[in-house]
Amino acid sequence: MGDDFRASFRVQSEDRLAFWAEQSRHLHWHKPFTKTLDWTNPPFAKWFEDGQINASYNCLDRHVLEGRGGRIAIFFEGEPGDTKTYTYSQLLAETKKAANALLDLGVSEGDRVALYMPMIPEAVISMLAIARIGAVHSVVFGGFSAESLRSRINDAQAKLVITADGGFRKGKAHPLKEAVDQALENNSCPSIEHVLVVERTKSEVIMSDKDVWWQDALGKAATDHVAVGFDAEHPLFILYTSGTTGKPKGILHTTGGYLTGASYSHRVVFELNSEKDIYWCTADVGWITGHSYVVYGSLANGATQVIYEGTPDSPNFERWWEIIAKYKVSIFYTAPTAIRTFMKIGRSVVDGHDLTSLRILGSVGEPINPEAWHWYHDVVGGSKCEIVDTWWQTETGSIMISPIPHAFKTKSGSAQRPLPGITVGIVDENGVPVKSTHDGSEAGYLTIDEPWPSMLRGIWGDPERYVETYWSKFPGKYFAGDGARFDEDGDIWLLGRIDDVIKVSGHRLSTAEIESALVEHHWVAEAAVVGAKDEITEQAVVAFVILRQDELGDAPNEEEIGKVLGNWVTEKIGAIARPRQIMVVSELPKTRSGKIMRRLLKDVAEGRPVGDTTTLADSSVMNAINDKLHEGATD
Ligand code: WT7
Repeated sequence: MGDDFRASFRVQSEDRLAFWAEQSRHLHWHKPFTKTLDWTNPPFAKWFEDGQINASYNCLDRHVLEGRGGRIAIFFEGEPGDTKTYTYSQLLAETKKAANALLDLGVSEGDRVALYMPMIPEAVISMLAIARIGAVHSVVFGGFSAESLRSRINDAQAKLVITADGGFRKGKAHPLKEAVDQALENNSCPSIEHVLVVERTKSEVIMSDKDVWWQDALGKAATDHVAVGFDAEHPLFILYTSGTTGKPKGILHTTGGYLTGASYSHRVVFELNSEKDIYWCTADVGWITGHSYVVYGSLANGATQVIYEGTPDSPNFERWWEIIAKYKVSIFYTAPTAIRTFMKIGRSVVDGHDLTSLRILGSVGEPINPEAWHWYHDVVGGSKCEIVDTWWQTETGSIMISPIPHAFKTKSGSAQRPLPGITVGIVDENGVPVKSTHDGSEAGYLTIDEPWPSMLRGIWGDPERYVETYWSKFPGKYFAGDGARFDEDGDIWLLGRIDDVIKVSGHRLSTAEIESALVEHHWVAEAAVVGAKDEITEQAVVAFVILRQDELGDAPNEEEIGKVLGNWVTEKIGAIARPRQIMVVSELPKTRSGKIMRRLLKDVAEGRPVGDTTTLADSSVMNAINDKLHEGATD
């Protein structure tokens, strides 16, 4: 594979579009395309435009028709220890029934369907059933609050929500239907016609007129369903992600290009042998990693994969390693946060398990620091596995920068090179390529320089924001929002976000979104949120708030205020956005033009001496914050 890929580097530089056309022909096209790319109206790309394709057919029917129906598609491991196995034939049969059930509920081509589900096979089946009939899914991570779900349903005008009574997390049944009820209460989501509910935890739920049990709907549905081809640019899904403003963006992906990118990258980055490998990506389908590498990429490639419902610590920290040993997982893909958590606990939880089946270890979502890289390599991988540090984004749809196993000598902490077919650059503020230095290059902004098949096609309902956010800073190039530099070998090192997006345990959050949630509370006059360095989660949310004295009433103490506002953020956005620390301050550091200087607050949050304050309108503000912090430390 390594040599083939070195060769394909040459091929792609000669004819990049022919390279992509070749990759997309690994898929089944209902109608073959003749045009690879239309880039006459940038940044609105059209890939494989005159072709027709069905994503669900590619993930299921094709394998069954080509004799792979008996292959295991999913080894499901529930958190309480229940298991279930689906062959490709069985997964297809369930998906056909689900597709018919959706049609029976009035969902048709182009309609949006929201998913709010635990990590159970029905989540995968739902996505494939929606895609199968040409509807568009919008998966909302089950950890988001009812309010977040409501705003996403309304933004996409979804017709149906698919949920479950609950999901098992950390030994408990985490309610989901209840949150859906809350999102829909008082007719606040008028576009919703039905709610389809999978029975999972057997928790008590209230079923209203519009609610339908999944088991009943599928039980009544016809068993056969013929998948037809949709235009390559037909929308496949919307996935909301945080940006620099308070409002999450609905990232839109379309069918042919996305499936090409997801399946191609999955095949080459993990060096997949679909007959032999057992693959496990720990991501939830609520994130892009779950879309591309639990559903579309892996199933289009006919992989056999593990899906685990729960958290790595349930019932104890042995769980993941037991699963790897049990199923003889050979390709494992997870986030650095998880690795750092295990590092802290110590290698004994890993060492007791036979992990010799592992071959390739993937990392995603945030930079992997060299210590975590080595621990992953030595302790988990027994010093014999290839590590692929994969850089990409919700917007890119699939992996953009990553080592290819055996093609390069990997380096701890570097994502190294763009995949064949992808062209990236690093530029300075003026869009000029960064200067070389004696040990590589200066740091700059990462750009993607030419369109690629799985690129986002836009922001749902907001074409201007698409152009402005991604294609305006450096005309003609996609601006990723990450800092990066080249080392002396030309390998890329990612340096983290350069905007107000923060990464907490690999989850993407917007400081502006948390700030606007905080100021919605009647106690809060103003709020500033920063991402502070955290040993385990990479960054943690730290909030600074100015309170409205007149609203506070019986002056609660700072600890109570922190608790109340923490719960408030959980309710507004979700537990992942809950600040690690909330500091009450009397002023916020601002420039003369009124912009909050987050850089200085970050210094405080990370316990560093505060940097240059000369541009502050009132330089005493930081002294006051510092004094207060100092006071806190001596308490
Ligand atoms: C942001 C995108 C990629 C799917 C999951 C996250 C950061 C992602 C890496 C990596 C350094 C990384 C970037 C990027 N990021 N992978 N290997 N090394 N940083 O997708 O939630 O859209 O977040 O995650 O900052 O911009 P996302």
